[in-house]
Amino acid sequence: MNELPSPRLRGVKKNDLRRIAELEAKAFGSYGVIDNDLKVMFDPSGPLWMLAEDDEAIWGYSVNLRAADPTVGWIAGMAIHPARQRHGWGQLLLQATIDRLHDYDMRVIRLLVKPSNKVARRLYENFGFIDTGERDNHFGPEEPRMLMSLLLDHPVASPRIRPEVPADPDAFAVTGGTTCE
Ligand SMILES: CC(C)(COP(=O)(O)OP(=O)(O)OC[C@H]1O[C@@H](n2cnc3c(N)ncnc32)[C@H](O)[C@@H]1OP(=O)(O)O)[C@@H](O)C(=O)NCCC(=O)NCCS
Repeated sequence: MNELPSPRLRGVKKNDLRRIAELEAKAFGSYGVIDNDLKVMFDPSGPLWMLAEDDEAIWGYSVNLRAADPTVGWIAGMAIHPARQRHGWGQLLLQATIDRLHDYDMRVIRLLVKPSNKVARRLYENFGFIDTGERDNHFGPEEPRMLMSLLLDHPVASPRIRPEVPADPDAFAVTGGTTCE
């Protein structure tokens, strides 16, 4: 693995949205959120979004939302461009995202991930996210998604003793669903 400089992590500005849409399309293809939808989502939730960049370009982002229950946050989409994957950027971006949502008084963070996406699942598990249920056919036939949840402020004492995460998956109030695969 070649050494890359660490990313700069920062909040998202409106003129970053086009690049985020490109990264969405690269990571999620037809499930990716397009530029116009990002603009609509940005107005209410933009301060929760994060990106990772270096001197060359923006290479990673997380699009995050607040649920109807204001203590619940959603990571609706997150990706690192393949040119920067496997260099620790995903971990840094996820930590910055968790910190940002915590700063905005969220106590539970949820996301949906494709059960076959082992890399992403492992990343989330390493941060303490646990499996809190599966949604069959979430994006249509044969498109299940696993709901993963992280309860903040309750450090896991041991891998065998998990905190109870309230199960309110329907609290996700944003239309259009998530793009996380
Ligand atoms: C998931 C994703 C964000 C990880 O980003 P990344 O920058 O490559 O992740 P990191 O380099 O920080 O590595 C995180 C962990 O994943 C592992 N990993 C990363 N890429 C991997 C690969 N291709 N194969 C196996 N393990 C991999 C790392 O070894 C590390 O695990 P470890 O801490 O146990 O060693 C990135 O792969 C991605 O954007 N994937 C496509 C979009 C996606 O799936 N988003 C998440 C949807 S919910």
